[in-house]
Amino acid sequence: MTTTVEPFDTVDLIRVKRGSGALSTAQIDWLIDAYTRGYVADEQMSALTMAIFLNGMERREIRDMTLAMIRSGETMDFAGLGKTTVDKHSTGGVGDKITLPLAPLVASFGVAVPQLSGRGLGHTGGTLDKLESIPGWQASISNERMREIMADSGAVVCAAGSGLAPADGKLYALRDITGTVECIPLIASSIMSKKIAEGTAALVLDVKFGSGAFIQDIEQSRLLARTMVDLGTDAGVATTALLTDMNVPLGLTIGNALEVRESVETLAGGGPADIRELTVALAREMLTLAGQPDADVEAALDDGRAMDAWKAMIRAQGGDPDAALPTARETHVVTAERSGYLTEQRALPFGVGAWRLGAGRARKQDPVQAAAGIELHAKPGDAVTAGQPLFTLHTDEPARFDRALEAVQGAWSIGDERTTRGPIVAERVS
Ligand code: URA
Repeated sequence: MTTTVEPFDTVDLIRVKRGSGALSTAQIDWLIDAYTRGYVADEQMSALTMAIFLNGMERREIRDMTLAMIRSGETMDFAGLGKTTVDKHSTGGVGDKITLPLAPLVASFGVAVPQLSGRGLGHTGGTLDKLESIPGWQASISNERMREIMADSGAVVCAAGSGLAPADGKLYALRDITGTVECIPLIASSIMSKKIAEGTAALVLDVKFGSGAFIQDIEQSRLLARTMVDLGTDAGVATTALLTDMNVPLGLTIGNALEVRESVETLAGGGPADIRELTVALAREMLTLAGQPDADVEAALDDGRAMDAWKAMIRAQGGDPDAALPTARETHVVTAERSGYLTEQRALPFGVGAWRLGAGRARKQDPVQAAAGIELHAKPGDAVTAGQPLFTLHTDEPARFDRALEAVQGAWSIGDERTTRGPIVAERVS
């Protein structure tokens, strides 16, 4: 019988990172492979990720880690599709439904958009959960079907199979329960390993900052954006990033079916101003990378082309774009306590409130309520009068109202001075 002789001792690698040293390319390649095949134990990887969390990684180490995670699984290739492929990734926010209007809008210009998405965990919602509130719509499709739809109607939003960067799947689950998620080298390598393995030719990153974002500080978001843009560029994927404000919920809805409704309004040329602004900015960025810098994206929203592409995208995955969306059995309205201007509406508490109403899940295996969430009736800067509805809670289970109300308590304020919000897009990183 032959036994494999491992070239490194895991504990030596942990000591290197504990002492703020750098791991070699060979050490990182071995580590990711050995962790994927179960030789490196979860408790060893936990110690190592905590050391990385505390002491960081060099740019070369982050690149090595990303490439090693890509090599842990399959990669996709859309080179023979006959269309340019451009994807977008958001680091996640409250009311962030932008993928829904954005993917068909970009596809309406003849570009293929492969959007491998996830389900929500915690206060940020998942794109698949949102689309699953459309009767008949299926998140899981084969790679062959994905290719067919991309060649035909262009936009596909589907579940990422477990074959892409499986090392990241295992590592992310571990980080989730060991307090090591919010770490730039680990976030950057995690996101970019999946995006590069997916085989897109170009990628636009929507990196959030503010109270409802993973990374709240704009300086840190800038560093995350820079790190990911460099990783993409080094791997031959044309990559740019927009730094966008996530202090206030995006749009007027938080929750799955509520967000689909608002996305459809945007695709019909309406919708809240901030949703349109961010959709248009990201679409311009994606189409520029696809070689169409002068595409008139606003016209495509206003003249029905984006809506036609949406209907084709939903039908291609079994959904009925004209079916009624689910509505909640119970609602609870919160009114303005005084007249004045809405001056504050903090994203995180509203995200947690919608989650507690049933829009999100606490554990991976939990179901979500399609119709649960929060509908906002005013945004910061709007004039309000005492007694006017400020927001409505939606849920199928009224027992959830109290904890949701606790979450949003103190999350808004009304003052005498009108405040103005800056632009959603704060910076571009290329
Ligand atoms: N999303 C990911 O895919 N990975 C992270 O580490 C954080 C957010």
